[in-house]
Amino acid sequence: MTTELADDVGAHADVLERVLLHLVSVGLLNRDELGAFSLTKLGERLFVEGGKGATPPWLDLGNPLGRAELSFTRLLDAVRTGEVAYAAQYGNTFWDDLDSDPSWSAQFDAALARGVERRAREVAQAYDWAALGEVVDVGGGDGTLLVALLRAHPTLRGTVLDRSLEPAKRALDAAGLSERANAVAGSFFEPLPPGAGGYVLSRIQSNWSDADVRTILLRCSEAAGTRGRIIVIDELVADGAVATENDLRMLVYFGGRERTAANVCDLAADVGMSLEAIIPVGEWTIMELKG
Ligand SMILES: C[S@@+](CC[C@H](N)C(=O)[O-])C[C@H]1O[C@@H](n2cnc3c(N)ncnc32)[C@H](O)[C@@H]1O
Repeated sequence: MTTELADDVGAHADVLERVLLHLVSVGLLNRDELGAFSLTKLGERLFVEGGKGATPPWLDLGNPLGRAELSFTRLLDAVRTGEVAYAAQYGNTFWDDLDSDPSWSAQFDAALARGVERRAREVAQAYDWAALGEVVDVGGGDGTLLVALLRAHPTLRGTVLDRSLEPAKRALDAAGLSERANAVAGSFFEPLPPGAGGYVLSRIQSNWSDADVRTILLRCSEAAGTRGRIIVIDELVADGAVATENDLRMLVYFGGRERTAANVCDLAADVGMSLEAIIPVGEWTIMELKG
């Protein structure tokens, strides 16, 4: 049975069996009398429900997030020095490593895309995007959010700015939106394309330290001028809630942290920005800021 499984997944049968037997012994798998393996209830919670219907990418060692998870072995260094554990482990930042291998970048985008389309449609309905005229989705990844915004608001125009322009360009072309949207390669630590009505930061802030978030907000504020708005969209930590697991994940992968809306407001205030509106959208929050 394990030989067939090993053939199917391209693994070494003996080693695979020993690992699976260990997972049986710790209660994550069952093995029936014919030798077939299946998930126990606990295994389902960890591998399926824990990942909201799919294996969480950080449990897949072949995924860049699983690889990043191994930087937890440098947690002690991080505790002692405050340095980013991932960089101590691999000698590079997570983002530089993604840049070095397009298949990692694609796997990262796919991991992020889980469940995002539905939420992007809700975000598109929850705020008056059309009033902004044009938005720059700063660190907009594979363009999923911008596609949803432009579909919901036929007069809106937009740009995705990210490390690489290819994934978003493909998505915008495939959605037939290239007349109203484009993708550009760039960094949010450098000056951004000026003059848009809105600068979107969706799921960016938790990847960065306080100092870096201030810089990113400042770059957006400079580009937005006095008229434009900065729109932070994120799964923020509710006041008094516990999000320590993800907080440590952000710490070791990126040197980032989980934040509450008040934390984001404080960073925005440090660079002269004020909160104009805050809109809850399911687990996500839209924060409208002004420079
Ligand atoms: C957690 S993902 C969020 C992607 C997208 N905004 C979303 O909500 O799904 C963070 C994004 O930041 C981008 N990123 C990282 N460093 C960047 C930089 N210096 N300049 C621009 N984008 C960057 C990554 O490529 C990635 O697409």
